[in-house]
Amino acid sequence: MQIPLYENTILEEEKKAIYDVVESGQMSFGPKCLEFEEVFAKKLNVRNAVFVNSGSSANLLAFFALANPTLSLPSGQRRMTPGSEVIVPAVTWSTTIWPIIQAGAIPVLVDSDPLTLQMKPEAVEKAISAKTVGICAVHVLGNSCDMDRLNDIAATNQLWLMEDTCESLGGKWDGTFLGTTGIAGTYSFFFSHHITTIEGGMIVTPDDDFAELLRSMRAHGWTRHLKNKEKVEAQYSEFDPRFLFINTGFNVRPTEINAAIGLIQIEKLQKFNERRVQIAEHWNKEFFSLIQSGDILPNTSTQKASPVFFGYSAICKNTEIRNRFKNALDDAGIETRHIICGNMARQPAFQHFEHRVSGSLDGADKIMDCGIYWGANPGLSDDQVQYVTKVVKGFFNG
Ligand SMILES: Cc1ncc(COP(=O)(O)O)c(C=O)c1O
Repeated sequence: MQIPLYENTILEEEKKAIYDVVESGQMSFGPKCLEFEEVFAKKLNVRNAVFVNSGSSANLLAFFALANPTLSLPSGQRRMTPGSEVIVPAVTWSTTIWPIIQAGAIPVLVDSDPLTLQMKPEAVEKAISAKTVGICAVHVLGNSCDMDRLNDIAATNQLWLMEDTCESLGGKWDGTFLGTTGIAGTYSFFFSHHITTIEGGMIVTPDDDFAELLRSMRAHGWTRHLKNKEKVEAQYSEFDPRFLFINTGFNVRPTEINAAIGLIQIEKLQKFNERRVQIAEHWNKEFFSLIQSGDILPNTSTQKASPVFFGYSAICKNTEIRNRFKNALDDAGIETRHIICGNMARQPAFQHFEHRVSGSLDGADKIMDCGIYWGANPGLSDDQVQYVTKVVKGFFNG
C-alpha cells in the first residue's frame, strides 16, 4: 500500500471550472478572483481578503506593506525600516523569514515547543528589544500559537502582529479563525495544503487601508484593482487613469483559473478539515500507549486551539530512533518528511544575512533532529489509516 504525503483533490468539478475559464477568454485577474476574495473573507469572518499567486507572495506583500512609507498603523506601532527587528519562530518555512530580510529588517529567531510545534510566548517576550516592531506568529502544521499570550505581548509592547497561517487554514483559536486577529493573516493554497488553487495565497486584514495598499502593491503599485479607484484617480486627473501608479509593488497576481478552482475548493474546506481531524484523533487514540511511554510525541493542541492537522507529526526519543522509524515507514510505502524546514537558524542561507537568535533553540533542534510527519489527507481511506496504524505500532512494539 502507498500512503502519499499529498493527494490530488482537483477532481471533475474543478477540471470543468478550469475549462470554462479558458473557454471564456478572461484568464488573467478578473471577476472570479474578486468573487473568491469575497467568499473567502465571508467564510473567515474578516473584512478584507487579497488574493495572490502563492503563500510566499502573501508573506512578501504583507511584509513589504508593513515597510511601506504610506502605511498607517495604530498609534504607537512602527513600520519596518532598515535595521528594525521582527520576531519569528525558528521552526517555520523559509518564506516567512526571507521577506523580512529582503525588506532590510532583521529577523529574530525564537524557540518552538516540541509538544505543540509552536513558537514559545516566553521566548517571544524575552526577544523584544528597542528595535522590535512586530511579531510574526506562524501556526505550524494545523495547530495554533497561543494567541492570548501573543496578542497580549504585542499589545503591551505596541507591536503589530502578523499571522502566517499557510499551514492552518480553517483552524481556530478560542472560536476565532486563525489569521484574523492581527494586522494581516496569510494563507497558502499550494497543492498540498488544506485547499488548493494549484499555486495561490491570500492575505486577510481587518484594516481597509492596509487592504488597499496590498491591492496596489500586488500589481506594480497600480490603481487598477483598488476598491476606491475612482476617488484616487480623481486626485490625479492629469494622468491617464488606466496607467496610474501610486506606489511601488510587484506582480504577484493570481489568475482566473486559480480563482475558479478556489471557489470550488473553499466550499469543501470544512469537510476536508473534519476528515483530517478524524484521522489524527483516531491515530492519537491508537497510539495512546506509545504516547504515554514517550516513544512518540504527537502535535498536541495548544489549549484553546481547534487544530486542522496538516499531517500527523511525531517527535521520537532521539535521532537514531527517528531515522530508523523513517526508514521503516519508507519501506512500508508511507511517505514522510521532516517538520517544515527544521530549525531555520541552522540553514546555510543565514550565513549571508543579518539575523539574531534569541535564547536557546533547543526545542527547534529537537523538532528538527527527532521529528517526522506523514500525511493526514482527507482522501485517505479507512484501510489506509488502519495500515499506517499497524506499521507504526509494529515498529515500536517490535
Ligand atoms: C508556514 C508557511 N509559510 C509560507 C509558506 C509558503 O507558501 P507557498 O508554498 O504557497 O508559497 C508555506 C508553504 O508551505 C508554509 O508552510
